[in-house]
Parts: sequence; C-alpha cells; structure tokens
Amino acid sequence: MGKLAKFRRNRFASVFVLFFALGLVSIGFTGVNNLVTPAVAKIGNEATLVDKGSALFAEGCSSCHGLNGQGTSDGPTLAGVGAASVHFQVSSGRMPMAAPGAQVERKKPSYNEEETLALAAYVATFGPGPAIPSEEEVNMWINASVAEGGELYRTNCAQCHNFAGSGGALTNGKYAPSLKEATPLQIYEAMITGPQSMPIFSDKTLTPESKAAIIRYIQELNKSENPGGLALGRLGPVTEGLFLWTVGLGALIVVAVWIGARVR
Ligand code: HEC
Ligand code: HEC
Repeated sequence: MGKLAKFRRNRFASVFVLFFALGLVSIGFTGVNNLVTPAVAKIGNEATLVDKGSALFAEGCSSCHGLNGQGTSDGPTLAGVGAASVHFQVSSGRMPMAAPGAQVERKKPSYNEEETLALAAYVATFGPGPAIPSEEEVNMWINASVAEGGELYRTNCAQCHNFAGSGGALTNGKYAPSLKEATPLQIYEAMITGPQSMPIFSDKTLTPESKAAIIRYIQELNKSENPGGLALGRLGPVTEGLFLWTVGLGALIVVAVWIGARVR
C-alpha cells in the first residue's frame, strides 16, 4: 500500500484535511483583503466617485427612482435625501428594494462599501441633505455614558423599538425592527434620516453627544441581550406561560398514557 493511501485510511486524516482547508481559506481571505483595501483608499477623488455612482445608479436604481432621482410611480424622488440616507438604505440592504410591501426589509447588502459610498456621493448631487456622519462623530459612543443613553433611549426610542431593542409592531402591517444588527454608523444615520415612519432626530432634538450616548446604550443592550431562559420571541410572561402550558401539559399527558398502557 502506498504511503498516501495509508494516510488516507488514518482516522486523523480527515481532521488534518479539514484544518488544511481552513488554513487555505484564511490565507485566501487575507490575500483578497490586501487587494481590496488599497483600492478603497484610492477612491478619495470626489469626481471619480460621483461618476462611478452615476453608472451604478443608472443600472440599479433609476428604474424606480428615475434617471436623475426625480422619482417615478415605483419610487420616491431622492432630491435632498442626502448621502446619509443612501448609505443607510443601501448598507442595510433595504435598497435596491426587492419587492413592494408594507415595509422594506433589512437584508444582505447588494453593494460593497466602495459602491455604496459612490451611490451616496452621486445622490448627494441631486440636492443638499444630511451627509454621512464622520468617523469621529460616530466613534464618540465609545466614551459616552450608558446611564444617560438609557434614559434618552427610553424617552425617544423605546415606544417603537421596545425596551430591549427587539422591535415592535406599528400600525398598517409596519413594524419597528430589532436593533441587533445595525452598526453604530447605521444607528446614527437612522436618527438623522428617519426612515419610513421613524422621526428625524435633528441635532437640536438630540445633540451629537446624546446620539452617542444612545448608540452606547444600544451596544450594551445587544451585549447583555440574553438574560437566560428560552427567548420565545421575548414577548413576555404570557408566551412563556403558554409555552409551558402546551408543551408541559402535553408531555404530562403523553407520560400518563404511556404508564396506563404499561399497566394494562
Ligand atoms: C423596485 C424599486 C426600487 C429600486 C430598484 C430602488 N428603490 Fe429606493 N426606494 C423605493 C421605494 C418604494 C422607496 C420608499 C420606501 C419606503 O417606504 O421607505 C425607496 C426609498 C429609497 C430611499 C429613502 C428615501 C428617503 O426618503 O429617505 C433611498 C435613499 C433609496 N431608495 C435609494 C435607492 C438606491 C440608491 C437604489 C439603487 C441601489 C434604490 N433605491 C433602488 C424603490 C426602489
Ligand atoms: C415612531 C416609531 C419610531 C421611533 C420613535 C424610533 N424609530 Fe427607529 N425605526 C422605526 C421604523 C419604522 C424603522 C424601520 C424603517 C425602515 O425599514 O425603512 C426604524 C429603523 C431603525 C433602525 C434601523 C435598524 C436596522 O436594522 O436596519 C435603527 C438603527 C433605529 N431605527 C434606531 C432608532 C433610535 C436610536 C431611535 C431613538 C432615538 C428610534 N429608532 C426611534 C421607528 C421608530
């Protein structure tokens, strides 16, 4: 028997091959990353960014929003929505909209970060609107106060997004989504652009410091999201009780029938 054939029959071989494959994949990822990062660093030029965005927009957005963002019967005008709205909508996968419905769903984004920034730069030329917040503005949350954020969250956000940030139903089949997946940048952008029925929180209503505190609080919520027990949709004691009643009682009945059958 050849050495290789022997090795293949070894029961550790499959484990070895698995680790080898994982190693190759991670090396591959690092390689790709190194190729992409310098490209992103190079797109600083505003004019090329707008050109690129214009082409992407004509291809993926104009059918609903019109070639110049003037709007059609399938989508609203984008004049004055600003770069922040585009970055929020595209990076959270809401746009391009897949299917019309009561609510545009969050999904896997169709564009990478570079393309998203290009689309945002192009739409910003339609009219002035909120810009994408700077890294410094967004990163202020890291040193913000959790306690202050909690208070601001409960007065401004909890009525729709729920105390635990798990979201909640609104009227007409709409809902406020869970806040688990949104990045700090997306939370900031949601506050300054007010998607759908969410209000806009201008810097007068909530200062940048207050916004940072709210973002900090949402990060804490997501960290300590599971206090133990079964989640059951976190709808509260009623669901949990109902679950125990049906499953628990069901199990008791099964056991009783089984004992009865054995006695006979
Ligand atoms: C199938 C049609 C469709 C396509 C394609 C589409 N959109 Fe939209 N878009 C809509 C509709 C409808 C809305 C309004 C949704 C709502 O209720 O919030 C919307 C809303 C938006 C908004 C929010 C506007 C606001 O008032 O804040 C932005 C920004 C946006 N779209 C950008 C884009 C971009 C960029 C693309 C291309 C990548 C795109 N859309 C592709 C239909 C579409
Ligand atoms: C009146 C109800 C309402 C209030 C108040 C409200 N929101 Fe929202 N929020 C919504 C709705 C509705 C959406 C979904 C919009 C969409 O899908 O286009 C949303 C979306 C979001 C998202 C995007 C989530 C994701 O995963 O993409 C974030 C983040 C967010 N809100 C944060 C906040 C914060 C922070 C506050 C308080 C400062 C707040 N919201 C207050 C209704 C509300």
